[in-house]
Amino acid sequence: MTPVDLADDIPTEIAPLVSALNDLLSRLAKAVQAQRVFVADAAHELRTPLTALKLQIQVARRENRSIETGSLFQKLEERTNRAIHLVQQLLSLAREDAATSNGKPRANLARLASQVVADLSVLAEQKEIDLGLERVRIETGSDSLYVAGDETSLGSMLTNLVDNAIRYTPQGGRVDVRLVIEVDTVDVEVVDTGPGIPEVELDRVRDRFYRAGNTSGTGSGLGLAIAVKVATKCRAELLIRNRQDRAGLSVAVTGLKRVSNVNPGDTKAA
Ligand SMILES: Nc1ncnc2c1ncn2[C@@H]1O[C@H](COP(=O)(O)OP(=O)(O)O)[C@@H](O)[C@H]1O
Ligand SMILES: [Mg+2]
Repeated sequence: MTPVDLADDIPTEIAPLVSALNDLLSRLAKAVQAQRVFVADAAHELRTPLTALKLQIQVARRENRSIETGSLFQKLEERTNRAIHLVQQLLSLAREDAATSNGKPRANLARLASQVVADLSVLAEQKEIDLGLERVRIETGSDSLYVAGDETSLGSMLTNLVDNAIRYTPQGGRVDVRLVIEVDTVDVEVVDTGPGIPEVELDRVRDRFYRAGNTSGTGSGLGLAIAVKVATKCRAELLIRNRQDRAGLSVAVTGLKRVSNVNPGDTKAA
């Protein structure tokens, strides 16, 4: 909602009303902006003491190797890791809420996807999950895979989707990341062999802080909210579906816009 220009043809009787509404709208916009800045600042400020706390716990753990304190320190470290993760997710979300893209950002999707898969391969190995990345070409003009969108944002979207797939798929399962390349667009699909999500909750899991009822393990419920936000900003869509062929979830970001890999004046195109 944006204020109406009073210079427009507005009957004089309703001009005071329009002006009052305009005033309200601009105060509302300021309040929303202030709240976003507050969340971002608070998350940022929390990160430093939490990281320091984690380091102190690690030192204390090393110096006290007795049986009794061992599990206590381990719990402390796990809880601190959870708090750090929550703060990081809050920061990502605040960043997506606030950021208005300047210029025309573009990201190398192929590189981003390999990076995310490489970063999360340790987690996959721990669970003996077969994590794969493949390109499916429907009809392509060129080999490059640049899309419109901010690289950091797209990276955190992909990280959240692949992280979910690995986290919620049982030991020994399989997670496939597919880049489906078409002439003007690319879709990214993350498909797993986990339990999927009960149909009635498929819409709700996009909400902030919502976790499905059958979910075990720790989490913040912010990952999919971040992914939806990034997809929307890229004018793409996030589709969450249970697999038809077997148990598992398929999360797809469809319609990412392909852009040229060459910026004017940029010579090191990949
Ligand atoms: N690949 C998946 N398989 C099964 N359930 C999933 C999957 N991805 C997301 N979910 C469900 O959606 C919920 C929200 O996901 P997310 O927003 O990433 O939060 P978090 O992972 O921190 O709980 C999860 O708690 C889980 O219930
Ligand atoms: Mg998650």
